[in-house]
Amino acid sequence: MRLAQEALAQLGPDPVVVDVGCDHGHVAAALGAIGVERRRQRLPRREDVTLVVADGLTPFRRVDLAVITGMGAETILSVLDAGPRPAVAVLHAPERAWALRQGLAARGYRIDAEGLAPEARGYAEVMRVSTGEETATGLGLAFGPKLLDDPLLLEHVAHERARWAIRAEHASSPEREAAEAWLRFFDDVSAQRRSA
Ligand SMILES: C[S@@+](CC[C@H](N)C(=O)[O-])C[C@H]1O[C@@H](n2cnc3c(N)ncnc32)[C@H](O)[C@@H]1O
Repeated sequence: MRLAQEALAQLGPDPVVVDVGCDHGHVAAALGAIGVERRRQRLPRREDVTLVVADGLTPFRRVDLAVITGMGAETILSVLDAGPRPAVAVLHAPERAWALRQGLAARGYRIDAEGLAPEARGYAEVMRVSTGEETATGLGLAFGPKLLDDPLLLEHVAHERARWAIRAEHASSPEREAAEAWLRFFDDVSAQRRSA
């Protein structure tokens, strides 16, 4: 919500705000967004939100702010690929957020802001993007270039490190080498944060 509200404050009058996969509609209602669901039966029963049955953003001529959360990285990227390209998007993939960031950078999106939100299993990584060149690369991009200043960074790194340590233990090469690179990255990030 914070990342979306900050974006709203920067947009001009009467922005087109769309929450793709609006589910219960709470976020769409809070943002004054149009709620989109792919199937009619998934639409919430509420009258305080304009609701549309559609595939992603495709019915819109222009989208100023798109909110696409709680979906797989590839699903989010396919919604963006189908267009129209939103001026700003707030995105969250519960798994493989690194693949979302890589896909966004390859498509000419820049990560402008990110935030961590505690959830049942770890921390949700939420990002705000717009058109532009992303300068972060490698694991710095994959981890989340704007997460490094987050107040929950150390807790998040500890949680992610534990997950990657299990993968490193059970994977065979080359997945194990990739997991070990993540472990080194996490240790560097933690050391830098602690010494700052
Ligand atoms: C797991 S829910 C997430 C709901 C909410 N955005 C959140 O973050 O809690 C994903 C929703 O996205 C919808 N969805 C997935 N792909 C979609 C698409 N291409 N167009 C519209 N809705 C889609 C699904 O029907 C589902 O309701």
